[in-house]
Formats: sequence, structure tokens, C-alpha cells
Amino acid sequence: VSAERGGYPHFMLKEIHEQPKAVRDTLRGRVSDDLNRVTLSEIGLDEEQIRNIDRIHIVACGTSWHAGLVGKVAIEQFARIPVDVEIASEYRYADPIATENTLIIAITQSGETADTLAAMREMKKRGLRVLAITNVVGSSAAREADSVIVTWAGPEIAVASTKAYTTQLAALYLLAVHFGQVRGQIDEATAHEMIEALDNLPQVVEAVLDTAPQIESFAQRYAHAHDTFFIGRGIDYAVSLEGALKLKEISYIHAEAYAAGELKHGTLALITDGVPVVAIAMQPDLYEKTVSNIVEVKARGAFVLALTWVGNEDLEKAVDEVIYLPKTLPALAPMAAVIPLQLLAYYAAVARGNDVDKPRNLAKSVTVE
Ligand code: G6P
Repeated sequence: VSAERGGYPHFMLKEIHEQPKAVRDTLRGRVSDDLNRVTLSEIGLDEEQIRNIDRIHIVACGTSWHAGLVGKVAIEQFARIPVDVEIASEYRYADPIATENTLIIAITQSGETADTLAAMREMKKRGLRVLAITNVVGSSAAREADSVIVTWAGPEIAVASTKAYTTQLAALYLLAVHFGQVRGQIDEATAHEMIEALDNLPQVVEAVLDTAPQIESFAQRYAHAHDTFFIGRGIDYAVSLEGALKLKEISYIHAEAYAAGELKHGTLALITDGVPVVAIAMQPDLYEKTVSNIVEVKARGAFVLALTWVGNEDLEKAVDEVIYLPKTLPALAPMAAVIPLQLLAYYAAVARGNDVDKPRNLAKSVTVE
């Protein structure tokens, strides 16, 4: 059994460590050798169709929905197409407002989640185009969608999703750059810089995995916590949500993610002496604002673990512990930031003696509504 797990004690840890390869496999063949273009012929949309898209609805559940939240920020920033990200079980009953040029993107690792399939079917019935991003080639989502972007994460066994999420991010980043290029929102030099950064993501992920011992030591000291808050701004907030979910799913520590600027509108009441706060500060443009939110929680006694880019030692003055992550384009930072959050959930769950790969009450794929 340990052989199946490649020598790792759990599938989850194995899958966390497979992420550099999974991301590399997902990018392979989709960026040109000169790093000037993204090729996604599988989406089956010509340039005119891409230019005509007036809105995108992303539908998904769980971790795939969280990937969609990152995708929204990237697509809106790079391609300037408005994106709504909807929970599939809500979307299907919401009588969504879509035009004939609305593109539906369904994100599903398994391709078998009943809620996501139902949302896809509803929109297909209305004659809309559905693009699936899935990890399973022959899945129901892959068969029923008009076109498919396959994430090449390989089989994901642990219930808590890790490598599926990062490969979904890779697919969404590719799509964002591709749409941005076709729609003339990104000039050639910027496109080159972005594609170079995308191509470098597997190395970024690899380097972040070196923080594992630091996270493990923190997790052992922290595993008795009852609550944890994750804060960030912009795309850092999107990845905070995934960090909180991961922690809840396997460590059973209550966690909430908050847009850092929203804390003062209520949540600060819950920050008392010793409450752990994980602060994600990967956006240089929003950095000062995030630091002022960190100061607010420190003033109430929080213990703050912060993630920031290598070289930003300034943060050490404001927090209790810093984890340095390689610098990438700010929009791509979730790819780096999610890794320590996955590791934190993993090591906290191990320290609490939980069944990491099969957490209570959760299924890998929920094929009933
Ligand atoms: C289940 C799993 C989650 C997963 C969600 C969506 O709830 O426990 O980890 O994110 O389904 O799964 P999908 O296969 O559609 O991405």
C-alpha cells in the first residue's frame, strides 16, 4: 500500500508533492516554444467567437469553485471579460441571466459531480456553449460539454483536492491569457512576460514545497487551535477561501476566510488573544492595505502567520512568523500561496490523528444532488 503512495504516508502528501509535474503536464503543448502564444485549440472557439463572448459564467462545487474564483480575477484582469462564479447547486435553480454570447465554464475534477452536471445540462438546454475543465477524460462532463480542457493532474485519490486545484488554476490562467491576446487586451511584450511566468510555475511550486518543514513545525504547535482566520485582498482572498476549506475538511479546525478589508465590519469581534490568523500578502499593490489589516488583528492579540514574497522582510516587524514564497506575477501568486495552505491543513490533520485521506462525512465525488 505504501508503494501505491509512492513512499508517502498519505495520498494527500503524495499528491501535494506531485504538483510541479501535474502543472507542467497541464501547461505542456499549450504554450509555444518561444513563449509568445497560448494554444488552446481544444476549446473549439475561433478568434471571432472569442471576441464575441460578452460574459462568462463559471459553475462548480467545492475546491473547483474556489479555482473558479481565482479564474475570475485572472480572466477579468487579462481579458476584460466580466465573469460570474456560481455554486452549481445554486446556479441551476437561479434562472441565470445569460445572453447567447455567454460562455459557460464548468470546472469539475471528477467530471461526475451531480450538481455541476445538472447546471451544465440546464445551460445546454438553453442553447449555450459549455466548456468543461476536467481531470477525467471520459467523464460525463467531458462527454456532455461542447469542448473540454483536460487538466493533466493524473488520478487524485485523497478526498481533499490539491493537485486538481493547481492544474485547474493552470488551465484558467492559460484561458485568461489566450482570451486576452485574442481580444487585444494584452500587448505582445506583456503576453510574453505572462507566458514566461506561466511556464515557470512548476519551478515556483517546486521551490514552495521546500517550506514543508517550516509548515510542519508550525502545524504541530498550532494543531490544538479551535478557530483560524485566513485573510487576504484581491486574488489573495480567493486563495484564502481554499486555505480555509482545506483546513476544515481534514483537520476539523473551524476556519473562515475574509477579505482583509472586511474584518472591521464584524469579524474583528472574533479575534481575541492567541487566535491564529493566516495572512496572505502576495500583492505588492495591496500590500500596505493588507499590513494595516494585520495590525488590526495583532492589536487584538492574534497570532499571525504570514505568506509573502521572498525579500519582503519588512513584514517581520508586523507578524509572528513569515513564510517566504518565490516571486511570480501577482495574478499568479495563488499557485504559490496555496501550497503552504495545503501543507498546513495536512500537518494539522496528522498532528490531530485524523484520517487524512478519508475525512469524515466527505466523499471524493458527490454523484447525488
Ligand atoms: C466533493 C469533494 C471536493 C470537491 C467537490 C467538487 O465535495 O469532497 O473535494 O472539490 O466534490 O468535485 P469535482 O469533482 O466536481 O471537482
